[in-house]
Amino acid sequence: MQKVRFCIVIATLLLAAGCERAAAPAIRLETGDAQLLATGKAVYDRHCTACHGAKLEGQPNWRTRDTSGRLPAPPHDATGHTWHHPDEVLFNITKHGVAKTANLKDYQSAMPAYEGVLTDAEIVAVLSWIKSKWPAGIRDKQEQVNAAALKNKAAASR
Ligand code: HEC
Repeated sequence: MQKVRFCIVIATLLLAAGCERAAAPAIRLETGDAQLLATGKAVYDRHCTACHGAKLEGQPNWRTRDTSGRLPAPPHDATGHTWHHPDEVLFNITKHGVAKTANLKDYQSAMPAYEGVLTDAEIVAVLSWIKSKWPAGIRDKQEQVNAAALKNKAAASR
């Protein structure tokens, strides 16, 4: 009996560990939390405006690389391609930079990596604020991109 109970305890622990791994922190941007959005706007004004613009408009000619091969900052509004990416990719670009996220070791980018500068919570807040500025139709489209990415991730971890 003792042995059986021991086995049940071990099995439960293993199951819990497995579940925890499966539920590994999926990054989700939330647009309905006023406090989060206020933090996000403050982070944006302080860290992102200089390049991405006070109105999320980006830098002029943002599709054309400069003489050093770097792209100007793209807009974060509906005219850019920020919303083409799932939440988690946006988080990774902001935290780790473009080269690491895209797995392009030698890619030169003017986009800083904010790891060690912003906390994960601040990164989620600023991207949530950006997302909250998109028109509903664009937000819906990005949610579809998100859903597809989450499905791929689930399939890959199976
Ligand atoms: C020094 C200028 C600069 C600052 C400051 C900056 N960025 Fe960027 N950002 C860029 C550039 C340039 C790119 C395009 C990078 C590339 O593709 O090489 C970019 C790209 C991005 C992308 C990817 C967009 C896409 O469509 O692929 C995200 C997300 C992003 N920035 C978020 C932020 C956030 C959030 C902040 C503030 C915390 C910020 N950036 C601050 C220059 C900057």
